Amino acid sequence: MTTAPKALLLESIHPVADSILIEAGFQVQRIASALAGAELDRALAGASVVGIRSKTEMRAAQFANHASLVAVGCFCIGTNQVDLLAAEASGSAVFNSPFSNTRSVAEMTIAEAICLFRRLFEKSAQLHAGRWDKSASHSHEVRGRTLGIVGYGHIGSQVSVLAESLGMRVIFFDVVRKLPLGNAQSRPSLEALLRDADCVTLHVPETQQTMGFIGARQIALMKPGAILINNARGSVVDLDALAAALRDGRLGGAAIDVFPTEPAATGDPFNSPMQSCPTAILTPHIGGSTEEAQESIAAEVAEKLVRFWHHGSTDTSVNIPQVDLPVLREGQLRILHVHRNVPGVLGSMHTLLAKAGININAEYLQSNPRTSYVILDVEGFEDPKLLDGIGSMPETIRMRTTSGPAISFQS
Ligand code: NAI
Repeated sequence: MTTAPKALLLESIHPVADSILIEAGFQVQRIASALAGAELDRALAGASVVGIRSKTEMRAAQFANHASLVAVGCFCIGTNQVDLLAAEASGSAVFNSPFSNTRSVAEMTIAEAICLFRRLFEKSAQLHAGRWDKSASHSHEVRGRTLGIVGYGHIGSQVSVLAESLGMRVIFFDVVRKLPLGNAQSRPSLEALLRDADCVTLHVPETQQTMGFIGARQIALMKPGAILINNARGSVVDLDALAAALRDGRLGGAAIDVFPTEPAATGDPFNSPMQSCPTAILTPHIGGSTEEAQESIAAEVAEKLVRFWHHGSTDTSVNIPQVDLPVLREGQLRILHVHRNVPGVLGSMHTLLAKAGININAEYLQSNPRTSYVILDVEGFEDPKLLDGIGSMPETIRMRTTSGPAISFQS
């Protein structure tokens, strides 16, 4: 009887991950907190896969101490908490979930645009302070207004669809040529977009080019009374320049979810030039923080771990060369071999198999400069000792096998 592989889930990952892993044959150990040091090592003992969020650090020692670990699932966007090179050097694949919270950010952006055009936060704050002001002055519908989207990627394009459904005109600027959705129109430059938009929303990544992307010069190009939303990265907007433009009334409002420096933990002090600007909505980096996003992240990463375990697929892995593999046929054996990217390894594998009279039905290979991942689907495999020969080749980093039929997934 074979024992079920162990999946260790840390940091209160959404329980949908447990269901997916258990259904795929794993036994799941769940620990609510992040772990470090000896506690982490104890929990990792015998684990085939581990799921973490942002607080558990998987460093070289963890990969060196736990040879059973074939994959790490980061149930979040970032992967800084994992030593990706150490994981690659031990043949462990690392997965994350870069886009599961896209819709949450898009919805918050639309909500903020409506709140700012209607001055809802100001009216609410006034009423909390006992001041009744029923005036319609400076309050607008979003219908018919022009929304300028900077960065037409996953989030920007979702915002585009939602905004058009509310009757907004959508223009966008992206450095890459993008297919406009619906009636959206591209603009040839950031400056052109800034001049035309009633509301500008930023959805670019942090790059050298986007650091300080929106400063005093760009704000001066925006329409008087326009609105700026930044739910992207804190380094993209010069907050001193923005606060000055809000205070002197040049801009009509702003919503800021991300800051150049952000407190590490709940309750830590927070300071920003944006504080006490009445026309600014400030939120603590919660654009992607919804229960739906957490569930979607858990499902996505758990499925990636299962696909990798059963089929060897490294599609979307952030460290091992990416290969998307089909489901194995009954009676086939799949050899999953991660090795140092040097000449001759494939030839040696082929020779070993040919000498044993084994037919290779399919072969897949992807490499980066350091590491190669080769997958051989073979039939007529009778002598398990042959695997020792492949596994003990000096270039081998990790070898394992899987056999068909395995579980199939909807994509
Ligand atoms: P994405 O990679 O799908 O899209 C980014 C787009 O920006 C791409 O189309 C790219 O070509 C474009 N771009 C890059 N440089 C540009 C430039 N200089 N000018 C114009 N366009 C440029 O990324 P996604 O998923 O849409 O995320 C966008 C941003 O949202 C990222 O910065 C991400 O960190 C942030 N984010 C924030 C969250 C929050 O909680 N507030 C949650 C999730 C993402």
